[in-house]
Amino acid sequence: MARHQFLHLRLFLLSPPKPLLLNPLPSLTSSCNPTSIPISRNRISTLTTRRRANSTVASLAKEILSSSANDLSPDLASLLESDKARSILRLSTNGSPFLRLLSLLKRRPLLALQVFDWRRNLRDSPPLIAEEYASAIALAGRAQNLSLAVKLFDESKSTANGPILYNALMTAFMYNGEVNRAVSLFHKLKEETKYGPDTVSYNILLSLYGYRVLVDQMESVLRDMDSSGIPRSVVTYKMLMYGYLRSRRWKQMERIFGSLKEPDTSTRLLMLRGYAIAGKLEKMERMYELVKREVQAQERSLICAMICAYSKAGGDSSVRKIEELVKLVREEEYFPYLHIVLIKLYAKEGLIDEMERLIFYANKRNIVISSHRVMRTILALYFKSGDVERLDSFIKQAERAGWSLCKDLYRCKMILYSRLGRLTDMCCEVDKMDSYWPVRDRYTLKILYKGFSNSGRMWEMNMVIGLMFKYGFQLPQGAVV
Ligand SMILES: *[C@@H]1O[C@H](CO)[C@@H](O)[C@H](O)[C@H]1NC(C)=O
Ligand SMILES: *[C@@H]1O[C@H](CO)[C@@H](O)[C@H](O)[C@H]1NC(C)=O
Repeated sequence: MARHQFLHLRLFLLSPPKPLLLNPLPSLTSSCNPTSIPISRNRISTLTTRRRANSTVASLAKEILSSSANDLSPDLASLLESDKARSILRLSTNGSPFLRLLSLLKRRPLLALQVFDWRRNLRDSPPLIAEEYASAIALAGRAQNLSLAVKLFDESKSTANGPILYNALMTAFMYNGEVNRAVSLFHKLKEETKYGPDTVSYNILLSLYGYRVLVDQMESVLRDMDSSGIPRSVVTYKMLMYGYLRSRRWKQMERIFGSLKEPDTSTRLLMLRGYAIAGKLEKMERMYELVKREVQAQERSLICAMICAYSKAGGDSSVRKIEELVKLVREEEYFPYLHIVLIKLYAKEGLIDEMERLIFYANKRNIVISSHRVMRTILALYFKSGDVERLDSFIKQAERAGWSLCKDLYRCKMILYSRLGRLTDMCCEVDKMDSYWPVRDRYTLKILYKGFSNSGRMWEMNMVIGLMFKYGFQLPQGAVV
């Protein structure tokens, strides 16, 4: 269980910056920009047409999305019959309004594919261009229908060509974890005679290897790219940084970052994540100052990453900074791991009241502590404080809430009781332990022995020695049978 949580956090910290991988089409295939219409001689009228097309597309997308709860509704058919839908194709001089429509629908890929189907089967509509096929291939990838993606790719070859189609299919493969197919498609692209891989194709490979922490392959792709004379783009640098972040090569990551003359915000955010995971607090703080607003507006998971960085470092100033950051975390973003990180932090820093306040809330929120390490950290603080009543109520809470119990909890209580001379209470703990761990162990018996011997209760002490003898445990030093 504990491992799960750490894994969860690691995935969380390492989760790709969203636009890069979860949403590969727009950023990786930036050449496919629906709004880049060549400006005609009559610029004003073109702009007006574009604006009109824009608003028509937006309202049609809205209607399509709200009309059908499921993807196969008859409403969709009638919507597509409408004048509005047709006018979008009329307005399409180069497919861009239609591309924009598809991109507005991409959250519902099956729906978007149906709209694409409609466009494809429409008589007297202009032939499909490479960008439209590329969008559809990407949508099929999003819908996890690779056979459809391949089918569309093959079909596209009759009317369209160019690396953009390969890039779309590579992305679809990558998106669905088909690494080998993506790579072999790249090699096929290299064998094309009329064109070859472009920057986007290389970026896809870089991100694919970077994501899988295959740094050597990533670097060899970069060498290949440079030696083929394919220019790097901003995305290229981001993918490299991302790959180094995944493999925790901070120096290389910083080197790439440093080689950018004017890093954009998302690159800075990526570097900030690197500093947070690497625990380079000073650099992290300096970077945070630069992108504070953006972190709070768009990359909120970084708040948590920074909290974790501070909590690993510990110390008074970290606690203060964490408390500032926690204020920024929204209710819906608050997740159990964060809570546990904070409990552990307060426990380590010896702030028992703060810790208990969070433990109380953990109970209220049904957060389960399943890590022995965290439980031991909490326990260590109670032991240091010597307050057996507080420890007792913590253990009762933990028992009720089903948190991970360990023998040390009870042993620690026994020691505290024996110090106070409350030997009956001490013995009760052994009974309690028996109900969880039927087999007694030497260490627990030794604590009993010490408790009795320190307060001169020879009879009970000898009983314990007898028990140890019976179980075949090594007797404590100085014990006489
Ligand atoms: C059309 O919409 C896109 C995306 O919202 C926008 O970037 C573009 O400026 C708009 N074009 C016009 C002419 O309004
Ligand atoms: C993929 O798409 C094709 C064509 O739309 C469809 O016939 C097939 O059932 C789909 N496959 C899956 C697994 O959804």
